[in-house]
Amino acid sequence: MTAVTDFLLNRSSEPRLEAPAPDRETLDRAFACAARAPDHGLLRPWRYLVVEGDGLEALGGLFASACADDTDERQTEKLRTAPLRAPMVIVGIASPRPHPKVPEVEQVMSAAAGMGFLELALQDAGYGVMWRTGSVAYHPGVHEGLGLSENEQIVGFLYTGSVSSAKPPVPRPGVEEFVRHWP
Ligand SMILES: Cc1cc2nc3c(=O)[nH]c(=O)nc-3n(C[C@H](O)[C@H](O)[C@H](O)COP(=O)(O)O)c2cc1C
Repeated sequence: MTAVTDFLLNRSSEPRLEAPAPDRETLDRAFACAARAPDHGLLRPWRYLVVEGDGLEALGGLFASACADDTDERQTEKLRTAPLRAPMVIVGIASPRPHPKVPEVEQVMSAAAGMGFLELALQDAGYGVMWRTGSVAYHPGVHEGLGLSENEQIVGFLYTGSVSSAKPPVPRPGVEEFVRHWP
């Protein structure tokens, strides 16, 4: 097995994150890895927003104001502070466009694969990551506040930073539970 396989077999998402966030060089390399996602038609149907510093409070404010009418006060306050759980949040956006051979779902899957590659590259550089969505990912007010076009979707918020305390191991399914040979 290669170092890549060993790394994959040992990775876990990490919810408890603190400063420092990934540095610029690490980020650039990780985004270059994201751009290696399989991409039918080479449409590059993705983009990313990097949020840090005061931007995290602005993002929380956007979550809270967009969802205020749909949630109670306690939940609204939770949304307001949600982005402060990490020193950096990367918004992964799928930007599908009409194509005669590549349906929208394939373009969204490509953006999600890129988000996965980004997650792995940041972990390989020693940072913790946690891919989150929640109702805010699908809220039109959040989309508008982040400047998404009509055709775009949020594939996730990648919370990243340094691991403050590692999460306990997650039980992993045995391959025989989800793999069959066919026919
Ligand atoms: C599209 C997507 C959305 C997710 N949204 C959330 C979320 O909102 N909250 C959460 O706790 N985990 C969420 N997760 C799961 C975590 O990122 C993580 O995979 C999970 O906690 C299992 O940890 P592991 O990656 O170590 O197996 C999401 C994962 C994906 C792929």
